[in-house]
Amino acid sequence: MQPFFPVCPVCGAALQKEDRVLRCDRGHSFDFAKEGYVNLLTGSHKPGDSIGDSREMARARRAFLEKGCFRPLADALIEAVRTEGKENPAVLDICCGEGYYSEQLSRALPCRLLGFDLSKEMVRLAAKRKLDALFFVANLAAVPLPDSSVDIALHLFAPFHEASFARLLKDSGVLLSVVPGKRHLFELKEAVYDTPYENDEALPQTTLLTLTGTKKVTAKIRLETPEDIRALFAMTPYVHRTSKEGIARLEALESLETTVAFVIGVYKKSRQQRDEELRD
Ligand SMILES: C[S@@+](CC[C@H](N)C(=O)[O-])C[C@H]1O[C@@H](n2cnc3c(N)ncnc32)[C@H](O)[C@@H]1O
Ligand SMILES: [Zn+2]
Repeated sequence: MQPFFPVCPVCGAALQKEDRVLRCDRGHSFDFAKEGYVNLLTGSHKPGDSIGDSREMARARRAFLEKGCFRPLADALIEAVRTEGKENPAVLDICCGEGYYSEQLSRALPCRLLGFDLSKEMVRLAAKRKLDALFFVANLAAVPLPDSSVDIALHLFAPFHEASFARLLKDSGVLLSVVPGKRHLFELKEAVYDTPYENDEALPQTTLLTLTGTKKVTAKIRLETPEDIRALFAMTPYVHRTSKEGIARLEALESLETTVAFVIGVYKKSRQQRDEELRD
């Protein structure tokens, strides 16, 4: 069985934990930050570089998610992981953000948990949750983890990288990938746009994985203050493409009830992919 622990991002060898450092036997080493995360980005990205979501975005996400508005999604994910019936599964939170879903899952069931994100600020906040988990900075396109080491991969609102997912999942592994549902935040859009549109609910297409099921989650949330409304809006992609008039309409709202809707896609490795790996 492959160990569920990061490998050296430079040479691929196993990493050992020594006090506040991860080190491979070829001498590459990666220090833990004081919050307990480790930066495993290599190449042109130096440990001090700030890429990915900014500190403000990370803090806004933390502040909003902590209010529990997306709790129905966390509950549905926990249920989906339970349904898989794996004992103490190796769970990878892909593009984990500030770690909200990692925390909800690790509180609900015993699991071995790793999470990574390209944004150091997001990973820093995730590590500050002090879970029994390791969070690291890494790029989705080159995740420093062994092949076939993941039982359950969580993938929420983040870029889809089928080659990485197929490589990381065990043959029996499952990817739970979440996209916004049709009516997600529809009332918020109605408040801002003249002609709001519904999301297409399109789950990512992939030939390396097979979509074996979907689960829809819908709930109504009530935002009681203009700050909460603004915080939610700031987390959406609309924030970059809304007119001044739309922003003014949003800022005039005192409270808002809106739908939250999500689709969880359950993906497994396709037979063809498993056969190819056996041949290699
Ligand atoms: C919309 S946020 C979702 C975060 C988290 N999954 C959640 O739902 O709270 C998207 C995240 O993907 C991360 N991300 C974007 N491109 C990435 C990449 N190439 N590798 C790793 N993370 C990436 C961003 O830094 C950001 O934290
Ligand atoms: Zn190394």
